[in-house]
Amino acid sequence: MTNDTPKLAADLWRLHEAEETVSAIRSGAVDAFVVQEPEGERVYALATADLPYSVLVETMQQGAAMLDRNGEIIYCNASLAALVGQTRESLIGVPLKVLVADQLAFQKLLQEAELQSCEGEMQLLQADGMVPAKFSCRSLSSDKSTIGVLITDLTTQKQEADIVARLQQVQDGERRRLARELHDSVGQLLASIAMNIARVRAESDKLSPEVAELVIQNGSMVNEITNEIRTISHLLHPPLLDEMGLPLALRWYIDGFMERSKIRATVEVPDGFDRLPPDTEIAVFRAVQECLANVHRHSGSSSCSVKLVRDGQELQLQVEDSGSGIPKEKLANVMSSGGVGLRGMRERVRRLGGTLAI
Ligand SMILES: Nc1ncnc2c1ncn2[C@@H]1O[C@H](COP(=O)(O)OP(=O)(O)OP(=O)(O)O)[C@@H](O)[C@H]1O
Ligand SMILES: [Mg+2]
Repeated sequence: MTNDTPKLAADLWRLHEAEETVSAIRSGAVDAFVVQEPEGERVYALATADLPYSVLVETMQQGAAMLDRNGEIIYCNASLAALVGQTRESLIGVPLKVLVADQLAFQKLLQEAELQSCEGEMQLLQADGMVPAKFSCRSLSSDKSTIGVLITDLTTQKQEADIVARLQQVQDGERRRLARELHDSVGQLLASIAMNIARVRAESDKLSPEVAELVIQNGSMVNEITNEIRTISHLLHPPLLDEMGLPLALRWYIDGFMERSKIRATVEVPDGFDRLPPDTEIAVFRAVQECLANVHRHSGSSSCSVKLVRDGQELQLQVEDSGSGIPKEKLANVMSSGGVGLRGMRERVRRLGGTLAI
């Protein structure tokens, strides 16, 4: 009996270990295990271990491919096959680069993927044309023998961007027209009314004191409306922008902004700032308008700064405030939800070949 005690303890311990292992397998914490067999250690992988990942890759809308060292497809999902209009079987063994318009750029992307995750936009070839697509690549094994590529069709995204760009062109044109209309027709009419009032005032001795006072009041109201109309017209399309260029138009706008919002704003433009193409000038001006409107509406800051930096062919606009900032969780989807301000700004900048960073 006494001799059996160590054996019982050892059995109990093995039972306990077995229970722990089974429970780990059940909870999904283990996807493979090593068993000591007479011939040595043997690794058993659980058949269902990567099932959830396979289902995900098989059913997702993005195209997915796994490439070998030579960039040839060793696996591709149904979405990629549908995207290029071929069967999955026919794609196996094909170098993915032959499906890309700019093969050299794709080759570079694959080289970079050996070092770090990377992505690039390129045209994906189809039987009867091509589609814009984003390629996200990363190495899948430590010996860099396989590379995973995710391919997102950007057609809808590009179409939406084009619509936003066209809307903005229409909006710019319409604002310019409205500004001119307000200035030329309403402004001219108000000028005539002001002249008539001045004539009536010159003969106010023929009026009763009450009526004479009303004429004076009308005079100041017409002056107020004239100023208001000028401000609205200039905000819709600053005449200084076309005539005098960006630095003066920005200073004029920022002075008005400070007066209206009571937020301190500074503007810094390098000396001898040359004129830019009209599209660029209006894009920068509208970006400043939107950024300052956002500072006023969302930041709670009492000051902000606007800075233009020119480095050769590159132009940088920096707008900063010292307010609340955009919360991290909001920042992630600020471009896909909510207002059109930042999205419109990004499209304008993109059309000019630039980028927007928040
Ligand atoms: N300077 C800022 N400080 C803090 N939050 C900001 C700032 N600028 C933008 N945001 C946040 O980013 C969001 C998106 O800004 P965006 O300009 O695109 O839209 P919006 O201002 O809400 O509406 P719209 O511009 O269409 O009138 C805002 O709703 C706000 O939460
Ligand atoms: Mg806004």
